[in-house]
Amino acid sequence: MKFFIKTYGCQMNVNDSEKMGHILEKRGFSAADNENDADIVIINSCAVREKPQEKIFSFAGRLGKGKKIIVAGCVAQSEKEKILERNPSINYIVGTHQYYHIDRIVDEILAEKSRGDHPVKAQFSKVWQEAVPDIGARISRVSGYISIMEGCDNFCSYCIVPFTRGREKHRPFENIMAEAEYLAAAGYKEIILLGQNVNCWGDREKNMKFTVLLDRLAAAPAVDVKWIRFITSYPGYYDDELIDVMARHEKIARNIHFPAQSGSTRVLMKMNRIYSRDQYLEIVRRFKKRIPDITFSSDFIVGFPGETENDFGLTLSLLEKVEYENIFSFVYSPRRFTSAFKLKDDIDPGVKKQRLYRVQELQKNIQLKNNKLLIGKTIDVLVTGLHPKVEGEVIGRTVNYRVVNFESDTPVGEFTRVLIERVGPYSLRGVEKR
Ligand code: SAH
Ligand code: SF4
Ligand code: F3S
Repeated sequence: MKFFIKTYGCQMNVNDSEKMGHILEKRGFSAADNENDADIVIINSCAVREKPQEKIFSFAGRLGKGKKIIVAGCVAQSEKEKILERNPSINYIVGTHQYYHIDRIVDEILAEKSRGDHPVKAQFSKVWQEAVPDIGARISRVSGYISIMEGCDNFCSYCIVPFTRGREKHRPFENIMAEAEYLAAAGYKEIILLGQNVNCWGDREKNMKFTVLLDRLAAAPAVDVKWIRFITSYPGYYDDELIDVMARHEKIARNIHFPAQSGSTRVLMKMNRIYSRDQYLEIVRRFKKRIPDITFSSDFIVGFPGETENDFGLTLSLLEKVEYENIFSFVYSPRRFTSAFKLKDDIDPGVKKQRLYRVQELQKNIQLKNNKLLIGKTIDVLVTGLHPKVEGEVIGRTVNYRVVNFESDTPVGEFTRVLIERVGPYSLRGVEKR
């Protein structure tokens, strides 16, 4: 009996898929290379915008007959029975807090009880549920994901995540340390701490906050990795100690994903974000003053209800001021359950599309300009993979998470030095200098 997990969505979904794969392998099932070779297909879904949500139905629709189909993850959590109504060939719904039982659920499905009385399991858990995927169940042997908290209590007005991941649950300190040591001992070069509100993590029993966790991870001899990253930080929970800890430890990569969403305070307030444009810029300024080589990345939503040309101009000017290393930008997508859902989605689709294009063009030029400053410099690069098409080529990443292409026989997972010769907006090209 073979399974295949198709993952949509954010890194936490990827990590959840790793956990499910691990649990199923322990139960004696084996992973198929693709959905066609699998008897059981698990679709780990994302509900954050309409487009990714719809993808699960087209994917399920393309699957051949005779397979058992499970929808897991965020759409499973928010839409529940509705999914079964829409596509009768889907057998089972497994919410975001149920995949720890995926082995039992698969057993049940195989015993042909799949569409019995209870094909929907989607109750929230109030407590952290521990699962650590084996190395063999992970997508990378170089960068290891470590989930440290789940859920969100912020209720940004556009966002479905609090309804798919529930209230915040924080993982105990020891468990995080143990997973970090496990990955380091297995040769991982980078660990990436995950949470919807990662900088909000706390071990209440030990009275520890996120900056203490980072400090302890970066100082622990047994967490012998080169880079520690964390996503996603909420700018509303800013803490000056984060700058201190990062300044103290070079191991903490000099790149923060710090989603602004908009450059207009008026829109930010309507989004229920708790910081203003000026507060956001002040935090960025403090970071840059203390850690001059730090770079930021961000997410932006364009076309939020009531966004004027002036509001949008403020988003463009924020991009120019911060000079992000990278951004992800999206057209606003109304989501059921959220408070913005009752606002009139009043921006013309053409205008939304155009704003998205303008944000992306501006960012492209900023990236190109800043990447050009790297020409002639020799920088540290972590080899993350072989080029899929070109023999002898590898793909690597800089500390700022920029992609680098070069010819090399340095094994995947090793660091090397690369002299940058040519650049584009999204990647760098160079020659290895060992
Ligand atoms: N916890 C993170 C965001 C997680 S969702 C944070 O607070 O920043 C990932 C990104 O999807 C968000 O940053 C936002 O830019 C985008 N997003 C969320 N809901 C959206 C919606 N309804 N329409 C368009 N984009 C949305
Ligand atoms: Fe969504 Fe806001 Fe929570 Fe991020 S902080 S997950 S955008 S509600
Ligand atoms: Fe999507 Fe759920 Fe992540 S909605 S962005 S997979 S938390």
